[in-house]
Amino acid sequence: MTAASTGRPRVAIARRIFPEVRARLAAVAELVENEGELPWPAAELRAKLQGCDAAFVTGTETIDAALLDGCPGLRAVCSMAVGYNNIDVPACTARGVLVSNAPGVLTETTADFGFALMMAAARRIGEAERFLRAGLWKTWGVDMFAGSDIHGATLGVLGMGRIGQAIARRGHAGFGMRIVYHNRSRLAAADEAALDARWLGLDDLLQAADHLVIVTPYSKDTHHLVGAAQLARMKPGATLTNIARGGVVDDAALAVALRNGPLAAAGLDVFEGEPAVLPALLALPNVVLTPHIASASLPTRRAMANLAVDNLLAALGLGPQAGRPPTALNPEVLPTGRGGAS
Ligand code: 8YV
Repeated sequence: MTAASTGRPRVAIARRIFPEVRARLAAVAELVENEGELPWPAAELRAKLQGCDAAFVTGTETIDAALLDGCPGLRAVCSMAVGYNNIDVPACTARGVLVSNAPGVLTETTADFGFALMMAAARRIGEAERFLRAGLWKTWGVDMFAGSDIHGATLGVLGMGRIGQAIARRGHAGFGMRIVYHNRSRLAAADEAALDARWLGLDDLLQAADHLVIVTPYSKDTHHLVGAAQLARMKPGATLTNIARGGVVDDAALAVALRNGPLAAAGLDVFEGEPAVLPALLALPNVVLTPHIASASLPTRRAMANLAVDNLLAALGLGPQAGRPPTALNPEVLPTGRGGAS
């Protein structure tokens, strides 16, 4: 369906985006926009998407079969996130709805942040800053906020996709870390050799890592992949950093492991049930908590939003990539059966 009055497609923008990115859509489509700060609640999202040809979404909108059945005109759902656990891709495919995500453009920025969060946890930066701001600093102390070293330590990467590899590169080339990783599929031998990286089974990875960074996508298979039993296998004094998704780690079990050992510290950018954060985590001094900002540099957020628009326009048969959305997840729904450069 196109907007009856204008013949232009109707596009929903589920979250407020950069003006220049919005302008690319406004130039060709009638817009249905969320101008507030909060995501549309499920019923409102469904109401807003009714009559739309395409939707620009983020990681915070749930696109499931029920919503799709209420919005039969929808032809494309284009997300500015790389993770797409909020979108039921098979349900979209079954209804001929193109889905795209935004891989690649956020890799280095997200890896920078993951590394920073790991360092902040290991070197106790959050705790130390709160101490100073509270006016508690009276003198230098020999073991005051003494944490653990990053350089020369063993970096365990759980989920060795683009972002995992970018974190491993930082650890290997910048900090002389030993790299161990766990992933469903092993890297090609040349890629392992470049990072001097060793694949380990999950239990062995947990035992080997001084610093574990979690970058694996969330799905029903990775729900609570790291729970109480896994945390108990980790080294005394190890750190855990999660920049993947809430739910990959059992947050309640993590709080216990931070309070009673074996973990010394954690860095968390994602949470089960976010934006709510488990009170037991909020109460702990040895966890650095950030509000899902790992990809949040301005250039990267712009690139993510622009990539979603590239996909959306292409899915509507508009622009230079018409019919070939560059990072389609289900290009089989396209008439050609092929996406673009993904
Ligand atoms: C995003 C993310 O900030 O891309 C992802 O999967 O988790 C973050 O980079 C967010 O989801 C954007 O909607």
